[in-house]
Amino acid sequence: MQKRRLVTSALPYVNNIPHLGNLIQVLSADVFSRYCRQAGFETLYICGTDEYGTATETKALEEGITPKELCDRFYVIHRDIYHWFGIAFDKFGRTSDREQTEITQQMFLDLDAYGFILEQTIEQLYLPSKEMFLADRYVRGVCPACAYKEARGDQCENCGKLLEPTELLQPWTPLAPGEPLVIRPTKHLYIDLPKLKDKLEAWIAEASARGNWARNAVKMTEAWIRDGLKPRAITRDLKWGIPVPKTGWENKVFYVWFDAPIGYISMTAALRPNDWKSWWQNQENVELYQFIGKDNIPFHTVVFPSSLLGSGRPWTMLHTMSSSEYLNYESGKFSKSAGTGVFGNDVQTTGIAADIWRFYLFYNRPEKNDTLFAWKEFQERVNSDLIGNLANLVNRTLTFYTKNFGPHVLRPAEHTGLWKSARESEARIRAHLEKAELRDALKETLDLADLGNKLFQDSEPWKLVKSDPAAAQDLLANLVHLVRDLGLLIEPYLPTTGAKIRQFLTVASDRWDQLGQLTGGLVVAPIEILFKKLEDEEITKWQAQFAGSQKERKDALDTQAPETPAPKIPVPPAESFRQRIDLRVAKILEVRQHPAADKLYIELLETAPGVTSQIVSGLAPYYKPEELAGHHILLAANLKPAKLRGEMSNGMLLAASRLSPTGDKEIVEVIFADDIAVGTPLDLEGDAPRAVGSELKPQISIDTFFATPLRMEGGQLVTGEVALKAGGKGLKTSKVLNGEVG
Ligand code: 2FM
Ligand code: ZN
Repeated sequence: MQKRRLVTSALPYVNNIPHLGNLIQVLSADVFSRYCRQAGFETLYICGTDEYGTATETKALEEGITPKELCDRFYVIHRDIYHWFGIAFDKFGRTSDREQTEITQQMFLDLDAYGFILEQTIEQLYLPSKEMFLADRYVRGVCPACAYKEARGDQCENCGKLLEPTELLQPWTPLAPGEPLVIRPTKHLYIDLPKLKDKLEAWIAEASARGNWARNAVKMTEAWIRDGLKPRAITRDLKWGIPVPKTGWENKVFYVWFDAPIGYISMTAALRPNDWKSWWQNQENVELYQFIGKDNIPFHTVVFPSSLLGSGRPWTMLHTMSSSEYLNYESGKFSKSAGTGVFGNDVQTTGIAADIWRFYLFYNRPEKNDTLFAWKEFQERVNSDLIGNLANLVNRTLTFYTKNFGPHVLRPAEHTGLWKSARESEARIRAHLEKAELRDALKETLDLADLGNKLFQDSEPWKLVKSDPAAAQDLLANLVHLVRDLGLLIEPYLPTTGAKIRQFLTVASDRWDQLGQLTGGLVVAPIEILFKKLEDEEITKWQAQFAGSQKERKDALDTQAPETPAPKIPVPPAESFRQRIDLRVAKILEVRQHPAADKLYIELLETAPGVTSQIVSGLAPYYKPEELAGHHILLAANLKPAKLRGEMSNGMLLAASRLSPTGDKEIVEVIFADDIAVGTPLDLEGDAPRAVGSELKPQISIDTFFATPLRMEGGQLVTGEVALKAGGKGLKTSKVLNGEVG
């Protein structure tokens, strides 16, 4: 018997409007579950809004409404956007629903009963007037390293130092400017991950192989386990959250990441009150497919499975993990906080049909690498691949058939060349979909349409119909059946279009058991044009309209600006690097402690043969002086000099960082380049390498420097999607394989 399929996509935070990058996961799970249904699997697709936590509570506070009111307002916005995109959830629920509280509390009680819950006391900043502990990002103060006055609780934007909020001098909060904050001890409950380690590791080893987890999920999960599991706090000092059902804990709620994944379960329970356990406690007969973005991986492969394993109940565990990379927007990142990019609500104002958006988002799905949304490419792909190829075949085949032979399509003699290739192609499409390789399956579908177009073109039916009408009808009837197959294959991706193609052919069923079958009995109904081409003027207009942030766009509207603001010229990361960033290999000659800051070192560098220079870096917590001295490192060489606590710094040493498995510490690794000569410039792979001693690019500020993304990806230094090279060699790390570089 076929197993049932339980499909989920990451529950979006309720308090923001989703942008195209966020929509990828909700759409991916939609395509996958539509495929499963069409392929005959009993399927449920569950999603909903993730509502609790600091961000919601604070935003509500700012807007002077209750968190519940805020969530009610945004829930509708989310629901309507996904509806517009044609997403066929079986349930789009809310984590603020009753079932969520019941199931989360029971999960906690189970974990506690089995001894997997610990208690610890920590120190946190507290705002007396609002009686609240403050999350890191709501704290500001003076940076202990560089004395910058506006440092954030998690990091100083001026010197880049990662901070604990309690380290800030004169801490204050934008929530109550002017009010002094106090440090207070507070106790929290932790899930004892170390105690669950053996169970967890055994499960991961087995599940990741059996369920064919995405490569990034396997990598990141391995790294978490390798770096050592630590207990993780599961409570917070907040009001907007699920109460902790334990005496003495009445003033705390569960941390949003403890309850959020339980939302998948509770939303199923809200949909199927009497039957949800046959989905969620039925490992034998149910396979769980989860679609998320790569930033959510450890929560789904380590933390949530630990809750499930520790609770002692027979939960349905993750089968296939499809964790996509990021979709970037023209010049940089989509950002909810900065409001950059195209948002779910913007999309509807363009008049471009949902299926067209869906097409390009899957054509460009960040399946194995980050990808870029670019308006120009959007236009090209839609016009040539969707319209010029697929829609063209549908249109020319059906028009030609009815014009010459009327509406009835009988069973033709099989065109063996065509159907051998088509059936092989269909098998590959299924195989890709089974592995959640949605982009690959779409490309294969387009190739199949291409094959149909070639056959049409090469057999010249407009001539054949005159010389041998019966042969022409037979050929066209084969092609009509291929059009039917293409309609069925495209339907998970483009549900409106797929349904239209079936309607053109009077095919009621969307089931894939028809694929490759020459059934006959099709009746061609009057057809309509499927899509309208995207014109240059429209693309230019939207490109300008969606440049800048949502806020800038709104402000521009609010002030009734008489002219449209000049479009910002989008600069891809690689180009921005080429123009602005100058990195050079340098040698650390000497390291000494900064006299006025515990965390800072002063390093004397050799930056070009025989040239020395001094920098200040915040590496003292991570490296001993002797671990640095003598090594070659990468220097941001064209930064404006800065004084850090009285000491000059002529540039910045590059290190990669990422969060530790417990999420509370930063792991930092200096990018060493010991085998590369001092003074060697870094250039983009494919660009002509500059020589040692070549002139530096113009000086830039630290803000300009950080505007160009530098990252470690799989242990390689990259900007955007392009690797950086020095003297022909890549720059590598061994601990922080994926992380930000600064
Ligand atoms: O990153 C996010 O948008 C989270 N709200 C995802 C939660 S996924 C799940 F665990 F609910
Ligand atoms: Zn600082």
